[in-house]
Amino acid sequence: MPETKIRPATLDDLPALSGLFELLMRGQMAYDRLAEIFPEADFEKLVRGFLSAGNNKILLALRGESAIGFIRLNIYSGTGIKRLQSPSRNTLLERLGPRRVARKILGSLLARLEPPLAPPSIFKPQRTGYIADLFVEEQNRKAGAGSELVRQALNWFGENQIELVYLQVLSENRAGVEFWQKQGFSGYRMLMRKKLPG
Ligand SMILES: CC(C)(COP(=O)(O)OP(=O)(O)OC[C@H]1O[C@@H](n2cnc3c(N)ncnc32)[C@H](O)[C@@H]1OP(=O)(O)O)[C@@H](O)C(=O)NCCC(=O)NCCS
Repeated sequence: MPETKIRPATLDDLPALSGLFELLMRGQMAYDRLAEIFPEADFEKLVRGFLSAGNNKILLALRGESAIGFIRLNIYSGTGIKRLQSPSRNTLLERLGPRRVARKILGSLLARLEPPLAPPSIFKPQRTGYIADLFVEEQNRKAGAGSELVRQALNWFGENQIELVYLQVLSENRAGVEFWQKQGFSGYRMLMRKKLPG
């Protein structure tokens, strides 16, 4: 089997990356019976957003020329996701058009109202890294690609002075939970829910 190479993903990787992202999301449905994907879901559009928003770091795993997996990372600082590269206002306007830019600004204001990871201001701030997604194609699993993606992600967080790294895994994804435990992560909080009849 050829060795795994890891490199940052770019917009040129959009088709391959969208395919992997779709496999990840559809695979996760097995562990969340309440979630449903829109039949017309546009994975390419979603992943293009990740690649161009400037606040996601995506590392791609390749075997030979083929993309076989990826990891998506964010850094949180203060009340929201930190911008890693700043697309200029004009580029944003050109790319998205005025209505979507307005929606984006409103979205980021709303996100500030209840940041997902920021504790109340009485707590000392921690420089926080977040692993948003990790995926390796089924036929390429158990050969070290997942742990290599994680190793390089943690190095990148370290270079960015991150003290604490978070991630979420669905409780029914036992293999995923075991994988993360092997990488040194441990559970510290339980997200609970209840479905109402209405
Ligand atoms: C989780 C995932 C990324 C692992 O990728 P991978 O390339 O198979 O991982 P590795 O080969 O680097 O395995 C690393 C270690 O985890 C263990 N591991 C991997 N998959 C496992 C599984 N299904 N069950 C138990 N342990 C597993 C390996 O045995 C290995 O242990 P070792 O170091 O003691 O040999 C991959 O299975 C995947 O994409 N799953 C679907 C998506 C997902 O669940 N993502 C993570 C949860 S958010």
